Amino acid sequence: MKIRYDLKPAAQRRTAPFTPQGPLSFGQLRTDHMFLMDYADGGWRDPRIVPYGPFSLDPGAVVLHYSQEIFEGAKAFKHADGEIQAFRIDKNAERLNRSAPGVCMPTIPVEDQVQAILALLDVDRLWFPEQDGASLYIRPFMIGTQDSLGVKPSTRYLFCVFLSPSGPYYPKGFTEPIKLLISRRFHRAAPGGTGAIKTGGNYAASLRAGVAAHELGASQVLFLDTTDTWIEEAGAMNHFHVTRGGRLVIPTFTDTILRSVTSESVLALGAAALGVEAVQERIPLAAFLEGLKSGEIAEAGGFGTAAVVSPVGAYVFEDKSEVKVGAGGIGPHTRQVYDVVTGIQRGTRPAPAGWMFKVPRIA
Ligand code: PLP
Ligand code: COI
Repeated sequence: MKIRYDLKPAAQRRTAPFTPQGPLSFGQLRTDHMFLMDYADGGWRDPRIVPYGPFSLDPGAVVLHYSQEIFEGAKAFKHADGEIQAFRIDKNAERLNRSAPGVCMPTIPVEDQVQAILALLDVDRLWFPEQDGASLYIRPFMIGTQDSLGVKPSTRYLFCVFLSPSGPYYPKGFTEPIKLLISRRFHRAAPGGTGAIKTGGNYAASLRAGVAAHELGASQVLFLDTTDTWIEEAGAMNHFHVTRGGRLVIPTFTDTILRSVTSESVLALGAAALGVEAVQERIPLAAFLEGLKSGEIAEAGGFGTAAVVSPVGAYVFEDKSEVKVGAGGIGPHTRQVYDVVTGIQRGTRPAPAGWMFKVPRIA
């Protein structure tokens, strides 16, 4: 793919490394540029890097009415040698291509998505936030742009990638366990629906559940399946728990759970690296709650790109009752998994072959 560069004039671009004043939040800042590519007449055209900014869209664009949208989330890190390295962006590109048919959108070759992300990171590498625990968050997404009110797939699409210099998703980062609301009132995804793909509609549908969670002092909802029998996942991360016997258990991926790149990475690392055996099982809510009460389940948390490894200290219910996880703090296994995952991402531990993508110096 030949990318066209239409960059900001040098005088308007960042010329020194970005040193944030004060703690960075998640997802608020942008860098100087974005990647764009259009789809029409059955093919992708005009891949380009342009100044970040608003783009125009017909008010009748399909995405604005029927939410034909898919997105990804990945991160890039700066290693001790000063090079920027993106974590497993091929896996995000593969997932975008699994999401696309779920809402009748076209795919993009994985190598083109990877090239687009690396080229953009190269152009805006000085935007890497020089702050402990911060990263460059990468947001690729695709929208249906045809001006048409019929409920049918758009004939035209826009693919965009932009970057956000970010701190932790939860304001307290890894230092303070979060609370999750276990809800029987709200469900995120139904069998045969779009729960396993990363489409904006899933997140719109989860917003009121998130508001209800906040009202009860929880950060997110731990969603159950539609029969309220099985534990599924949270609004923006997969779920895990660790048993007293040292097994880390992630709910088996179904068509109502997103296949998290972070979870898949933990599963791939294995017991030698993690100090626990990571497995997937279907987890009945009743057994989970019993395990929490008996102490058989000693630790729990969430996995995600934005969330990284987020310890859960307690679960709250709609009647405001609460169940603690262990003593409510951060357990040793959760800490080790966090250290291993972030160590690989930040280059202080060796990464399995092919996990890190070094940003080439091209622009
Ligand atoms: N589940 C949902 C619903 C998510 O939004 C995310 C975030 O991307 C995840 C799980 C975690 O996936 P990943 O580790 O690929 O970021
Ligand atoms: C991510 O972790 O990258 C996500 O997409 C989660 C979220 C911010 C919606």
